[in-house]
Amino acid sequence: MELNEILKTRRSVRHYQDKEIADDVLFELLDSVRVAPSWHNYQPARYHVIRDAQLKEKISKTLPSFNQNNVKNAPVLIVTTIVLNQSGFLKGEPANELVNHWGYYDGGLSNAHLLLKATDLGLGTLVIGLRNADKIREILDIPEEESIMSVISLGYPEKVSTMPKRKQFDEIIKIY
Ligand SMILES: Cc1cc2nc3c(=O)[nH]c(=O)nc-3n(C[C@H](O)[C@H](O)[C@H](O)COP(=O)(O)O)c2cc1C
Repeated sequence: MELNEILKTRRSVRHYQDKEIADDVLFELLDSVRVAPSWHNYQPARYHVIRDAQLKEKISKTLPSFNQNNVKNAPVLIVTTIVLNQSGFLKGEPANELVNHWGYYDGGLSNAHLLLKATDLGLGTLVIGLRNADKIREILDIPEEESIMSVISLGYPEKVSTMPKRKQFDEIIKIY
């Protein structure tokens, strides 16, 4: 798919077909995150990819009910994290006022690769920020050095909504 088409057609998908994702497609998708840019090339983003039905059910239950509904039938749930205390630091010392926020910046850039590549492969995603991180940590035994960001659902879209209204160019961009 051409880049402009990917950018314009990517939508948050809240209705999935009951259809598995083939291994080669999933691995091609996951490989796309490895090339994302990051602070000092530390690459702090991590992906906990859940295909097992029972584990998926457990992770789904860490979401509020409307989000559980949104991910129903999705064959894969991905918990995204970042390793703390790398990005934003120089020789172990905070580099500036944003400190660990730079890790989240890297994580978001990396997640964007995943979302856009998924669109390219005909897959839909939903980034979920409303989740219970403590319960997810316990279920997957995620170490404290990793900070849990989102749960991203992944699957073949059953229904795609229209693009929610976006701000106008002049509202968000100042050219000097
Ligand atoms: C960090 C983040 C957290 C989000 N959390 C949720 C969520 O908990 N539940 C949900 O339904 N959508 C969630 N969304 C999806 C947004 O609502 C969606 O991206 C936005 O409305 C724009 O729609 P679009 O993705 O189709 O362009 C989240 C998106 C982001 C980037």
